[in-house]
Amino acid sequence: MPAISSSAPGKIILCGEHAVVYGQPAIALPISDVQTRCVILAKPNAITRQVLVKDHAFGLDTDLSSLKPEHPIRKTIESVLTELSIDHLPACEVQIHSTIPHSGGLGSSASIAVALTRATANFLGHPLEDIIVNKIAFEIEKLHHRTPSGIDNSVIAYAKPVFYMKDTPIELLKLDHPMVLLIADSGIKGSTAKAVDLVRKRWKSSPIEFEGYFVEIGGIALKIKRLLQTGDLEEIGELLTNNHQLLKEIGVSLPELDHLVDVAIRSGAYGAKLSGGGMGGNVVALVPPDTAAQIRSNLLRSGAAHVLVARISPPARR
Ligand code: MEV
Repeated sequence: MPAISSSAPGKIILCGEHAVVYGQPAIALPISDVQTRCVILAKPNAITRQVLVKDHAFGLDTDLSSLKPEHPIRKTIESVLTELSIDHLPACEVQIHSTIPHSGGLGSSASIAVALTRATANFLGHPLEDIIVNKIAFEIEKLHHRTPSGIDNSVIAYAKPVFYMKDTPIELLKLDHPMVLLIADSGIKGSTAKAVDLVRKRWKSSPIEFEGYFVEIGGIALKIKRLLQTGDLEEIGELLTNNHQLLKEIGVSLPELDHLVDVAIRSGAYGAKLSGGGMGGNVVALVPPDTAAQIRSNLLRSGAAHVLVARISPPARR
C-alpha cells in the first residue's frame, strides 16, 4: 500500500476571538503558508499490529498504545476508528510534520487533528466528509483547550474563510477583494486554554462589564463581515484596531503585543490586533500591499520573531 498523506492549513482569527466563546460571531481565515502534513506508511511485514507515531514537531517517537488514552493523537485515531466502526489500524507508521508554531494562535492543534483524521480515514480506505472531520477535530480541541468555541477546527476543516457563531451552521465566506495580512510572531508562547480560563474568571466576577465587551466585539465581526464584501480595507483596519483595544481591556494582551500593534499602525498598516488566545502568540496587521515589505521589516526590527506575509486572494472565477 502506498503512503497516504493529508495536509491541513493553519488559521488566523481576523476578529472576534474570546467573545466567540460566549456566543458572539467571529471571522477566521485559513492560512496555507503554514501547514500540517500527516503521512501514514503501511508496514505490511510487521508481525504485530504495532502503530508507530512520529510527531516531528513535539519530538514524539513512540508506539500508539503507549500514549495515554486522552492523548490527542491517540484519541484522534481512535475517534476515526469508532466513526468507521473499525476495530484497529493495520501495522503502520504515522508521521506528523508541521510548520505551524505551537502556542502561537495559528491553530496548530486543530490543524494536526484535521490532517490526522483525514489521513487515518483515507489510510483505512474510507475518506470522511468535512462535517465529520470537523466534528472529530472539535472533540480533540476540547482535550487541548477545554472549552473551545469550535472556530479553529471549523476554519481548518473547511479550509475556507468562516463567519462563525457557536451552535449555528457554519457560514463559509467568499472574499471578493484581495487582502495582505502580516502575521507577526511575538516570540512569546501563549496558552489558549489559560487565556480562555482567565477571561472566564473575569467574566464571572464582572459579568455585566464583560458581556458588554463581548457584544461590542461581536458587533465588530458583523461590520467586518459586511466590509469584506465591499473591500473597504481602511475601515476594516480601524475595526481591527478597535478589536485589539477591547481584547486589551479584557486582559489578554501583553505590552509586547501592544507594541507590535503600534509599530504596524505607525508604519502604515490599516489596522492591527492580537490574534487567537493572546497573552503571547501573534499579531495580525492588515496592510496596503505596496508597504507590506516596509511594515514587515519595521516589525522585525521592533522585536517580532518572524513575520509571515499572507496574501488572501479571491477565489479564481471559472
Ligand atoms: C482561539 O484561536 C480563539 C479563542 O476565541 C478560543 C476559541 O474560540 O475557542 C480564544
